[in-house]
Amino acid sequence: MTKDQARKIIKEQKLSMGERLVILGHHYQSDEIIEFADYVGDSLELSRKVSQLDKAEKIIFCGVYFMAETASVLAPDKEVYIPDPKAGCPLADMAGIRDVEHAWDVIGRISSSVVPITYVNSSVEVKAFCGMNGGVVCTSGNAARVFMWAMERASKVLFMPDRNLGRNTAISLGLKDNEIIEWDPSAKDGGVDEAGIKRARAILWRGWCPVHWPKLRPEDVNSIRQREPGIKVIVHPEADPLTVSKSDAAGSTAQILDYVKSLGKGSSVAVGTEFNMVNRLSMDFRPNVRVLPLNKVLCEDMARITPDKLAQCLVDPDDSQRVRVDATIADNAVKALDRMLKI
Ligand code: 13P
Ligand code: SF4
Repeated sequence: MTKDQARKIIKEQKLSMGERLVILGHHYQSDEIIEFADYVGDSLELSRKVSQLDKAEKIIFCGVYFMAETASVLAPDKEVYIPDPKAGCPLADMAGIRDVEHAWDVIGRISSSVVPITYVNSSVEVKAFCGMNGGVVCTSGNAARVFMWAMERASKVLFMPDRNLGRNTAISLGLKDNEIIEWDPSAKDGGVDEAGIKRARAILWRGWCPVHWPKLRPEDVNSIRQREPGIKVIVHPEADPLTVSKSDAAGSTAQILDYVKSLGKGSSVAVGTEFNMVNRLSMDFRPNVRVLPLNKVLCEDMARITPDKLAQCLVDPDDSQRVRVDATIADNAVKALDRMLKI
């Protein structure tokens, strides 16, 4: 299928289905997909949107699999599709449910006062685990609020799967270095000892996003500040804590967009996140604000969603594109998601 054919099909389908069809697009999608998205947002905004789509019958999620899975859990009465089910998230894959259950058992033998928090970039099974154990989901846009909620209820949090978002959030809430430990799922019993678990207020799963870490380095912030005196720097909190500490701000993709919007005419800003978004910001805000990439980083999984796959998914979806979640797992995952949406 050529690009023009794909565009024609997508336009026709949108016209004929009207409000019964909703196409959601994450900020990291390419311009050729964003052009057709009814809503564009970060993970939190898109999750909230899904729960409000009364007239929609069919939701096409242009993003990665855990996002479509979350949409399906939040809108069980709708048909949710993803144009390429192979669009996964390596970060989400770093926390397997069996490893999470093992960590919970080991930690539970030492302390009974732990709230599990999972970043939305995780499997639905890990979300369900949190739902069943008094825990909650968070996104990069609300992690600090969710941590505070959890820390009012227990002496520790177990945060999965992103070590950087976990550490950046814990630091922003004033936790000391010795109150933060990491659970390494590849080491025996996480590679932590009893004293470490007893002392910790935040136990962070050792997982990371290969797009944001270690590629967005503290040296990148130093060098752009040298080349462009006066430039502002904002990064996604999946970046290294040292990179975050050298930046002017850190936030989810929606918060990055708001930050760029808030800058005055003539400002320059370096943005440390996926290049599709940074490039779009630089087009949308010129000539008033000059937007530069802190480093050009691309998410290959997001890039799997292309107009031809979207067109095919609209007219003749195959079963693998339909996102279905087991009812019991969904019921438990929704508990953790609902807690987040209320915080
Ligand atoms: P946001 O929630 O900030 O949109 O981020 C999602 C993501 O996958 C970042 O890598
Ligand atoms: Fe996953 Fe990183 Fe891609 Fe986001 S940018 S979807 S965290 S791999």
